Amino acid sequence: MRIRVAFIPGDGIGPKVVGLAREVVDYVAELLGFGVEWVEAPAGDRVKEEVGEPLPRESLGKILGADAVFKGPVGETAKDVIVYLRMRLDLYANLRPFRSFPGIRSRWEGIDLLIVRENTEDLYKGVEDVGPEHAVSLLIITRKGAERIARMALRLASRRKRKLTVVHKGNVLRSYRFFRDVALEVAKEFPEINVEDMYVDNAAYQLVTNPWRFDVMLTPNMFGDILSDEAAALVGSLGLTCSANIGDRYGLFEPVHGSAPDIDPEYANPLGQILTSAMMLEWIAEKKGDERFRQASKTINKAVDALLNEGKTLTPDLGGVSRADEVKGRVMEFIRSFVGS
Ligand code: NAI
Ligand code: MG
Repeated sequence: MRIRVAFIPGDGIGPKVVGLAREVVDYVAELLGFGVEWVEAPAGDRVKEEVGEPLPRESLGKILGADAVFKGPVGETAKDVIVYLRMRLDLYANLRPFRSFPGIRSRWEGIDLLIVRENTEDLYKGVEDVGPEHAVSLLIITRKGAERIARMALRLASRRKRKLTVVHKGNVLRSYRFFRDVALEVAKEFPEINVEDMYVDNAAYQLVTNPWRFDVMLTPNMFGDILSDEAAALVGSLGLTCSANIGDRYGLFEPVHGSAPDIDPEYANPLGQILTSAMMLEWIAEKKGDERFRQASKTINKAVDALLNEGKTLTPDLGGVSRADEVKGRVMEFIRSFVGS
């Protein structure tokens, strides 16, 4: 089986970490006997400078024609690239898992939660009017949008610890109260799930003081964006976190972090992007019904865990001195040892 993956190298540390993650995927694919055809779909700040637009039509065509999209972080053009693609491809669910990793020093241990962020509405819909004396952004929530993301979160909760927290700000904004009400309505279809709702400010507090109380957190678009960087801090580094943007048809996979213009790409942590590739392979396995992709995903996750547990090949964000390439090399060694044994 051969799959076609469109990839967006992106900006800043993007091309570096995407290049390394692709090498890891190709390696595991070769060991397990499947093929990946990578199709480059340039987008981002650099592309805008070169050709005048951040997401050229040819790139969009490649993205629409692929089995999956593998994206690195872009820079200041994030709105025109990723926020646009989420709507254009109707990628209504942004899934962001956070778990404590073995060997990583953090004040928190044993964290295992999933943020399910609505991905196409809310203030990020981009309906705005800004003049010299005013600025207005519309907060848009539709029944259809809230229902489908709630259903997705509940379905995922039923495969986990069966607990769902609906995060909102319904005490101040009626739009968010609507989001909560629709979610609670859908939850009646899932009596086995323990459902609660919580104001976002309290959720931000609980996330730091008692993160273990959460299993699946369902959030509107903007709160999910903010809470996921907070959750990333709890598990050690933004450089370790991955996410899926999925809809009924397409899947686009990217790390949670941005282009990190403040660091040398040679020392960027590539593990977030590598774990992103594992998330993509898992989704492809489900979609294509081919177990080899699931095995590839598991192998990558296991290799990353082994590397972190060993604690010797770490980039500076994790307190180490290693280069991104060295991290990739060590991940490959672990993959080899797991597939070979
Ligand atoms: P950022 O996520 O790029 O960086 C935040 C902090 O985390 C920085 O200190 C950075 O050095 C560190 N960091 C992030 N990824 C890392 C990695 N892999 N290894 C080591 N350290 C890492 O957020 P920031 O600085 O707010 O945004 C930078 C640019 O990225 C902006 O232009 C923003 O628009 C864009 N961005 C793009 C996103 C996307 O493409 N989906 C998402 C978030 C931001
Ligand atoms: Mg963000």
